Order: sequence, then C-alpha cells, then structure tokens
Amino acid sequence: MPENLTLHDGHRMPALGFGLYKVAPAEAADVVEAGIAAGYRLVDGAELYGNEAEAGEGIRRAIDAGLDRAALTVTSKFWGEEAQTRDAVLRAFDASEAAVGVGIDLYMIHWPRPARGQYPQVWAALVELQRQGRVRSIGVSNFTEAHLTRIVDETGVVPVVNQVESHPWLPQHELRAFHERHGIVTQAWSPLGRARVLEDAGVAEIAREHGVSPAQAILRWHLQLGGAAIPKSTRPERLRENLDVDGFALTEADMARIAALETGERAGTHPDERQ
Ligand SMILES: NC(=O)c1ccc[n+]([C@@H]2O[C@H](COP(=O)([O-])OP(=O)(O)OC[C@H]3O[C@@H](n4cnc5c(N)ncnc54)[C@H](OP(=O)(O)O)[C@@H]3O)[C@@H](O)[C@H]2O)c1
Repeated sequence: MPENLTLHDGHRMPALGFGLYKVAPAEAADVVEAGIAAGYRLVDGAELYGNEAEAGEGIRRAIDAGLDRAALTVTSKFWGEEAQTRDAVLRAFDASEAAVGVGIDLYMIHWPRPARGQYPQVWAALVELQRQGRVRSIGVSNFTEAHLTRIVDETGVVPVVNQVESHPWLPQHELRAFHERHGIVTQAWSPLGRARVLEDAGVAEIAREHGVSPAQAILRWHLQLGGAAIPKSTRPERLRENLDVDGFALTEADMARIAALETGERAGTHPDERQ
C-alpha cells in the first residue's frame, strides 16, 4: 500500500496515485479498475480529461468488488476555458460530481490563467464549496509562488496541494521549499517527464545500481523529496511497477546525482503562459 501524507486540513492522501490525462474514455474504466486492484488509492482526474464518467464506472466496479470508498481519494479540477467566475466553478463542480458519481474528495483549480486575473475569485468559489461540505479538500495546480501568495492574501485559505510539473529535469526545488514553509503538498504531474526522462542516462545508471526500473528510481526520488506523484499508465503491469517502490532507498549521493540532472526542460506549458 502506498504511504500516506497528512494534509494541513487534517485529511490524509496517498503519496502515489495514478493519472488519467490522455486515457481514452473507452479504456478509462478498465484502467481505473486495474489501478485500484494494483493497490492505488488516489485517482487523479479532471474535467479536461473527458473521462470522468468512465473513471467513476471503474471506481464503482472496485467498490462492488469490496473497495472501501472512504479509503480512496478521488480528485477533479476546474478548467474554466469559457469563464473564470464563481458561477462557472459551481456549474463545473456539479458537472464533474455528477459525471464521477461517487463523490470528489479533492477539487483543484487546473491552471491559474494569470492573464485573466480571476484566479482569486475562482479560489474563493472553491473555499465556498468546501465550507458547504461539498468537497473534503481543496487545492490548486500550476500555481507559482506569486499566484499562491495572492490567493492566500485575499482569502486567508491555503491550498492543501499544488499539483505542478516535476521530474528530475524540473525538480522545482524553490517552489517545493515554499510549499514546505506553508504546509502545501507538492504533487508532481508528468512525474516521469512523459516517459522522456526514463531515457536519461543518469537515471538509467542509478536504476541499474538498485536493480529497479528507471520509472521506479524516479518515483522513489519523488517520495524521498517528501512529495506526491501521479504517474500515468494504461498498462496494468506498469501500474503495478510504478507502485512497487518501497523495496529500496536512494542514498544521499543518489539524490545529489539526480539533482545534477536538472535542465529546466518542461514537458508541458509554463504556468504564466496558459491564458
Ligand atoms: N495538472 C496538470 O496541469 C497536469 C498536466 C499533465 C498531467 N497531469 C496529471 O499527471 C498525470 C501523469 O502525467 P503524464 O501522463 O503527462 O506523464 P507521466 O506520468 O510522466 O508519463 C506517462 C508516460 O509514461 C509511460 N509510462 C508510465 N509508466 C511507465 C513505466 N513504468 N515504464 C515505461 N513507461 C511508462 C506512459 O505510457 P503507457 O501509458 O503506455 O504505459 C506514458 O507515455 C496525468 O495523467 C494527469 O493526471 C496534470
């Protein structure tokens, strides 16, 4: 079973989950069912992924097979392409909740879209949803230190999680340190650099030395940094492999060698660039 992290709102969340971006709707129920059977207890979804109903179907199958729903963390995210308003958030949350059908535990803002300047009011709407008891925990994604500072200054409420791109090429050390000071969990998206970082010779060497796969070495690194990660795979054997990271530990020297692999290269968009 994956280790749990305690959020500053008192709830617990598995450090390792699995993500559903680019999982085709026709595959999503099977992938979710396989992930939960492999031992995952966090499913990372979003309105954008277009597979929330199918993910919900996979969760329902797992519940029918004996899963305790309370042991699972189900996430979703507000996209807000059309409008970044309170009403748009409430509508989007209702739609995601109805699609998933088994409740949402952690709701996040997908991107701050800083050029629109409306993310503080979007955050205030998430705070409202939490105060109404509609959602257990609230967080953000792709927020920089400046965006986080602004929402906390304006609402007094600190997100429990900031889900950001992070892998050995983009370790995000400064942002992680800021999160630590404010009790925010760093949850890495594209934790394997969309598979490209698996080809890194430095990663491959460390993996070989420990007798593990490059994906396992990278995921161990995420956990030893004290963060969370949500690798994606549609293959049951890889879902199992990505969760099997407790049988070894990276040394301080290994951690330093991985830190030296930083290039700053991103797999996705910079948070200030998405409008
Ligand atoms: N908040 C955001 O803005 C944001 C943005 C991007 C992603 N995300 C979240 O983060 C999740 C993961 O990110 P991601 O999908 O971009 O990248 P990722 O998890 O770093 O990489 C996924 C790729 O790695 C392959 N892979 C997975 N495990 C492997 C293994 N053990 N060995 C070899 N290859 C392996 C997968 O292929 P197969 O599927 O063929 O195994 C897939 O091509 C998403 O699903 C989503 O939930 C969030």
